[in-house]
Amino acid sequence: MGALSANSRPPRLRRAGIGLVAVALALAGCGGSSLDQSGGGESGGPVKIGLLVPLSGVYAPLGEDMRAGFQLYLDQHGGKLGGRQAEVVTADEGEGPQTGVPAAQKLVTQDQVAAVVGVVNSATALGLRDFFDESKRPLVVANAGANELAGARRSDYLWRTSFTNGDVGEALGPAVKDDVDGEVYLIAADYAAGKESTGGFRKSFEAAGGKIAGSEFTPFGKTQDFQPYLSAIRDSGADAVYAFYAGAEAVNFVKQYKEFGLADEVQLYGPGFLTEGGVLAAQGQAALGVQTSLHYSTELDSPRNKEFSAAYTAKVKKPPTVYSVQAYDSAAVLDKALAAAPGASGPELAKAIGGVGAIDSPRGSWSFGADHDPEQTYYLREVRSGGGGIVNGVVRELD
Ligand code: PHB
Repeated sequence: MGALSANSRPPRLRRAGIGLVAVALALAGCGGSSLDQSGGGESGGPVKIGLLVPLSGVYAPLGEDMRAGFQLYLDQHGGKLGGRQAEVVTADEGEGPQTGVPAAQKLVTQDQVAAVVGVVNSATALGLRDFFDESKRPLVVANAGANELAGARRSDYLWRTSFTNGDVGEALGPAVKDDVDGEVYLIAADYAAGKESTGGFRKSFEAAGGKIAGSEFTPFGKTQDFQPYLSAIRDSGADAVYAFYAGAEAVNFVKQYKEFGLADEVQLYGPGFLTEGGVLAAQGQAALGVQTSLHYSTELDSPRNKEFSAAYTAKVKKPPTVYSVQAYDSAAVLDKALAAAPGASGPELAKAIGGVGAIDSPRGSWSFGADHDPEQTYYLREVRSGGGGIVNGVVRELD
């Protein structure tokens, strides 16, 4: 199908323990007003930024993409953010809050970073919300899509350059209702992101008159053999499947879906993470025909994406992903905010993040909405052979 410009129409409006923190900060010797200057140094001096991404566990490849995206932005800007030399301190988020929360706390209390960027897993982001809110240090979430962070648990100190899990699923529901004559089965990793993603899809699919054939949640990070679940899908008589998996789980699920013979019988849909980047490369031919919704594709035909994609591929030796774009954009947000803020204290920086305006992103221009999430366009993508490899071709924009 024809290529699309990422900017061809205005973005779809999105549907839109104080005690412990005080003790941790006091132990680290950074109580009182000195806290507000942490990581910022003197005005115009170097600035320390924490990069919290998975370097281990099922989401480690996503963390690698985010590191590469963040570093590319720095390389393209002389290693500076807001005119200050950036010192990046990287920490391992691991597979969930047990590892991610202490790693973030160390970045803030010990390393004294001015802000933290990253976080892939929704459960980790939810576990970190109060710590950042109470320590008044900005967390720029560059992936984790937990719904509540853009709703009931929004904070002045939390900003997200990625998406809300429910929105990515919700964008796809009406398109699937139009294309599928029959019922859809929902399957997902059993944690916040899987529940919210399938919940968003179910909401708009049912509102359009669609029927759900059944649903299953599989143990997160532990399921390697999907065969029993694939049998249940076949037995349900579903005509299509909506699946939330990412990283190593997405590779296994899509390959086994094909090997089991379901790919030729039951159309597979999901949020774009199901077939993104290194995951797609590992799935290979098994992923052909899978359709997904996402706010990015390497195939977006805009000058900004082509320029970004060429620079990224030349440096990293593989194509960019939505994860690298989200981290790249997070660096752009901090660059603008640090340039505008009078100092790099948490409150000054958080306020400046709220005022950064439009971000000229490879995904298309976007700005923060009132919920601190991007207002952006979602695309229907289809896995195809093209350009010497297998890619997520852009079918059309989703309403
Ligand atoms: C999440 O936990 O919110 C999450 C993780 C990986 C993805 C997307 C969302 O690819």
